[in-house]
Amino acid sequence: MKKIRVALIGAGGIAGAHLRAYAAHADRCEIVGIADIVEAAAGAKVAEYGGRAFNDAEAMLDAVEPDAISICTPPKFHLPAAEAAAERSIAVLCEKPPARNLAETEAIVAAMRGLLLQFAFCHRFHPPLQGAQDLIKSGRLGDLVQIENRFGFRFSRAGTSWFTDAEVAGGGILIDTLVHSIDIFRALTGDEIESAQAQISSALPIEVEDSASLLVRSGGGVIGTLNCSWVTPVSEAVVRIYGTEGQAIIDYDAAAGLRYKLADDHDWTEQNFDRPDRFVAQADHFLRCIETGESPLLGGEDGLAVMRVIEAAYESAGVTR
Ligand SMILES: NC(=O)c1ccc[n+]([C@@H]2O[C@H](COP(=O)([O-])OP(=O)(O)OC[C@H]3O[C@@H](n4cnc5c(N)ncnc54)[C@H](O)[C@@H]3O)[C@@H](O)[C@H]2O)c1
Repeated sequence: MKKIRVALIGAGGIAGAHLRAYAAHADRCEIVGIADIVEAAAGAKVAEYGGRAFNDAEAMLDAVEPDAISICTPPKFHLPAAEAAAERSIAVLCEKPPARNLAETEAIVAAMRGLLLQFAFCHRFHPPLQGAQDLIKSGRLGDLVQIENRFGFRFSRAGTSWFTDAEVAGGGILIDTLVHSIDIFRALTGDEIESAQAQISSALPIEVEDSASLLVRSGGGVIGTLNCSWVTPVSEAVVRIYGTEGQAIIDYDAAAGLRYKLADDHDWTEQNFDRPDRFVAQADHFLRCIETGESPLLGGEDGLAVMRVIEAAYESAGVTR
């Protein structure tokens, strides 16, 4: 089969994860171009993964005519990149958050209508999360009652990069990191969030929030408490799932990615997963959608659903956007 020709827009941190993932599928795809406004950044990635380096995304799309792109720029530039791809009928894997706000996300989805658009909510491809989804579906946890999630760490780029520039990022940690938590909650409940109230704070002297807590409720009545911080130094990435017949914990840093205990169990049951790499699985899914015409797991409607919650969360916290 002819290899899928893939290009990247943005050659920073997350581009490295996309490139490693595409390299793991080198029998199915090849990197043909990498564009970054800092051409040296594109050049460094090209030296490792191949293709041609550009300092202008549209010039790259015209020169190398890819079948697909990964959008790996800061959020402000997701919409223009997606529009440029749409004009050329190119499939798009767009990093999270979908854009700076709901209106831009709607514009991306409208531009890409009829074309393949996948949003990179990579946790959907984390095998322990998929294991938890299976456990929930099996009914062994009973009815879901509550979900708690925490992503906390000390973020060295807070205050020193675009991540804390609202004009570029669309906000602070709520849109950057809690966007993952919102999609994880949707994945586990299989339901949409109907109510969302946020509290935000900043310990750092920055214009956006560096910590956020979000209280959500799904249409079916599951309650979620989603917490994240860029200023708490002990890294934690944990999802706790509580049902009427048992509970489960996804711990990203534990040897066993998933453990659970049912009502009558004496001990916790641990489930190990082989070296989970969610970016490789995410790229596999994107490539398969191109190869087969299958619909993406995380398409335009998912991006819109998550961004509606983000808007409600900022509004409830009194942030004008
Ligand atoms: N899935 C995840 O877990 C995850 C993790 C980190 C970042 N991200 C997301 O990935 C995106 C990029 O984040 P990052 O950490 O790689 O940022 P980064 O700052 O490390 O890299 C961004 C790159 O984009 C380039 N760039 C900026 N404007 C551009 C433009 N108009 N055209 C081409 N290149 C441009 C910059 O020069 C830089 O090299 C963001 O949306 C971010 O939220 C996702």
